[in-house]
Amino acid sequence: MVEDLYRARLKERPSSKTAAFLSSLYDDLRILEEDLDGTEAHNIMLFEKGVMSKRELASILASLEGIREEWCEGKLVLDTKFEDIHELVESRVVEEIGIEIGGKLHTGRSRNDQVAVDLRMRVRKDLLNLSDKLLDLIEVLIKLSEKHSDSLMILYTHTQHAQVGVYAQYLLSYVDALIRDFERFSDCFVRVNLSPLGACAIGGTSIPIDRDRTCELLGFDGLVENSIDAVSSRDFAVETASHLATLMSGLSRISEDLILWSTSEFGYVELSDEFSSTSSVMPQKKNPCSVELVRGKTGIAYGALVNLLTMVKGLNTGYSRDLQETKSPLWTSFDAAESSLEILVGVFRTLKVKADRMRSNIAESYAPAVDLAEALTRECDLSFREAHRIVGELIRESVKSKVLFNQIKTKTLEEACKKVLGRDVVLSSSLLATVADIESDLSRRVSVGSPNPSEARRMIALRKKNAKILRTRLSDRNLKIEKARKRLMTSVRRYITKRR
Ligand code: ARG
Repeated sequence: MVEDLYRARLKERPSSKTAAFLSSLYDDLRILEEDLDGTEAHNIMLFEKGVMSKRELASILASLEGIREEWCEGKLVLDTKFEDIHELVESRVVEEIGIEIGGKLHTGRSRNDQVAVDLRMRVRKDLLNLSDKLLDLIEVLIKLSEKHSDSLMILYTHTQHAQVGVYAQYLLSYVDALIRDFERFSDCFVRVNLSPLGACAIGGTSIPIDRDRTCELLGFDGLVENSIDAVSSRDFAVETASHLATLMSGLSRISEDLILWSTSEFGYVELSDEFSSTSSVMPQKKNPCSVELVRGKTGIAYGALVNLLTMVKGLNTGYSRDLQETKSPLWTSFDAAESSLEILVGVFRTLKVKADRMRSNIAESYAPAVDLAEALTRECDLSFREAHRIVGELIRESVKSKVLFNQIKTKTLEEACKKVLGRDVVLSSSLLATVADIESDLSRRVSVGSPNPSEARRMIALRKKNAKILRTRLSDRNLKIEKARKRLMTSVRRYITKRR
């Protein structure tokens, strides 16, 4: 095996420990395929520009494809004496076809633009993959919300009974937040999918390369034009990590709802056995461990973001080796987010929703109090603050004397009015009864986006349409990249076979 491909300037070798410290080989495995694609595209372009002959190109491509085959078959020998996958690949090619031809592979390129292009290719792939999973979750939630647009439920603020609503409204709130996550990844993709290849080390090259051609061959939408920016910037990675952290914060909150609502005290939902665990000692236990772990893995994404921000903070403009550390935080947070999305898709697909229990909890709740205050302002010409004080007084007394909301008498309400206002207020005898009739009360919520069941149904229909549009956008992007890759692979094969 060719050794020390790059070290002619240095006399001494690093110890194997130092070499392993310097090496990014294992983090690079996730960009190995991208690295081969990028090198093949670069070399095809070099041939097209007359920098190498067709025969030379064919030998290089054949050697690269041999490496790909070994990798796919799990036979590629890895060794951290190589600084990175780039050195390993080039060394292998040089060893196989000689330095006279193999040594041309890296013409007009540096590892600095090479690793940047590999990273962007992998991140765009991971972004599209993740967005696909995100849409799966959005669709499952929309489906479930369709079943629960009439499932009455307490809505909570401060984890205390706030207002009455429907379960669909909670699910739709998740959907809307997740759609914003989708849009963030989608916007981010536009900035990721740009080619830095051809920036060379930092200052371009005198070799007559064609940056637009490699950009096209690799399915990018455009160039990171400035050669310094192309090799220095990792804001695309920071941005990605930031969106992953935001996504995980949302998934963690959804998980927390599920954990809380599956307690015996709430009993609103039950996770299927598939997503639950038991205890080694308490035979009765059914623990929501899958969603606890989604909550727990959120730390990985936050850590990755802080890691990347710290890494780039003190660097001067240009490539510094610190940037090698971009990979592992990205990989770990992508993995955490992707697996968390898959878990939540399964959890919601198999979730047992106990709508009766949700409903029965309302019977003992004072959550319709706002509705009563609003009814007083509507029907008795009181200011909202007056009504709020009256109902506050009424609820305090009712709690004290253990009278439930639906047991409150008109007379008691009149007394509260008198106490607060110092005068009589004439109330219709049906006022309290209409407020206590939760269904009709909910249907009086007229504000846009309220949990009025008909409003929930309207929102569901719109989200359904939107999810379809997002699917199409996603598959268009996937298609463009797949097409470019197919074309590249066809060219590679054609050059190789012509050689024989
Ligand atoms: N392994 C390096 C990385 O991941 C590749 C670029 C190294 N460039 C250099 N000039 N040493 O960033």
